Amino acid sequence: MGVQPRRRQFSAPLQTLAPRRSRLAPGSAPRPRWPCLPGGHHVIERLGLRALHAFEPERAHGLALAALRAGLAPKPGPITSPRLATSVAGIDLPNPLGLAAGFDKNAVAINPLLRTGLGFVEVGAATPRPQPGNPKPRLFRLTGDRAVINRFGFNNEGVEAIAARLAARREQGVLGLNLGANKDSADRAADFADVLQKSGELVDFVTVNVSSPNTEKLRDLQGAEALSRLLSGVMEARDGLAKPPKVFLKIAPDLDTSELAELCSVAEAAGIDAIVATNTTLGREGLTDPQANEAGGLSGAPLFEGSTAVLREVRGLTGGRIPLIGVGGIGSGAQAYAKVRAGASAVQLYSALVYEGLGLVPRILTELETLLERDGFATVTDAVGVDA
Ligand SMILES: Cc1cc2nc3c(=O)[nH]c(=O)nc-3n(C[C@H](O)[C@H](O)[C@H](O)COP(=O)(O)O)c2cc1C
Repeated sequence: MGVQPRRRQFSAPLQTLAPRRSRLAPGSAPRPRWPCLPGGHHVIERLGLRALHAFEPERAHGLALAALRAGLAPKPGPITSPRLATSVAGIDLPNPLGLAAGFDKNAVAINPLLRTGLGFVEVGAATPRPQPGNPKPRLFRLTGDRAVINRFGFNNEGVEAIAARLAARREQGVLGLNLGANKDSADRAADFADVLQKSGELVDFVTVNVSSPNTEKLRDLQGAEALSRLLSGVMEARDGLAKPPKVFLKIAPDLDTSELAELCSVAEAAGIDAIVATNTTLGREGLTDPQANEAGGLSGAPLFEGSTAVLREVRGLTGGRIPLIGVGGIGSGAQAYAKVRAGASAVQLYSALVYEGLGLVPRILTELETLLERDGFATVTDAVGVDA
């Protein structure tokens, strides 16, 4: 415990990237608490991950959440520096790396997650009523491909249970809620406004998720007419709140240019505060794992290129008028940096944590800080969209 990494314990690429501690704000630099393996991996975290991966993936995920709640995750505390501090849609962030939706669907681990050094945390998706989701198995680790396929189908305990946990949070930090619709709802568009109305005052932002591939016909709500109607209901609900959250819109990576153009103009007209690009893909290119043909949404390393291309396209279509959050396949500081350069004001990740654990968070931020400094950017904001 408390052992600091010695230089020779880093792998060659990380050694060249590792900044001097003094480059991060005093007291805020990633501070390893356990002995490190080559690459900066913590021994205990590695062993924990290996043990978790012996379990069926959904069971392993439940155990990971239980471990978090028991205080067994790395706790570097807030990670920030003058270079990493930023803001999205008027929300100040200590750093631009957030947790993507779906990791903590029921908001059971908000407090420990906010202590892991992440710049912001998104929980959910929450639907108006509890629902069990699709039959199991519905989560697959494609280890060789560093990917995940899921077809959960918005399993969650419903907005009332989730809002109670949001209200009971103790930890400071930026928190968002992903909004979903019940599978058997007569009016799915109204579900988004309903969840927002019941929980919006408890979070900094909500994300309208019409891009999950796991609820039949949900993605149809991305069409111009349906989306426009849905968003006007959501904005009306938001404006009725005493403490209104920002409203983000999350899009699929499987849209063509004309669909994206339509969607961006609807989002802009509705006054959406940020676009989150992207959700999981239905694509299966380049996979080698025998489970590659499982139905559901694919995330992780193979999603990186496609989701970054969509992000860049959306940046071109919106011309910087709407802030973007880049998500899909991030597993390194270089990949987070590429999303920033393609137009993302902030980024999110999920699948890489399945393979690397939450110790990945400080590693990504350390690399990102170094890359920004190498290229002469005084702040992460200065690098947003330079490659768009
Ligand atoms: C198991 C799992 C569940 C997810 N659930 C949601 C969800 O409820 N709402 C949502 O908007 N995205 C959900 N996502 C998508 C992620 O938020 C993210 O957009 C996607 O996984 C791409 O990022 P990644 O490659 O870093 O995982 C889920 C992803 C996974 C792997």
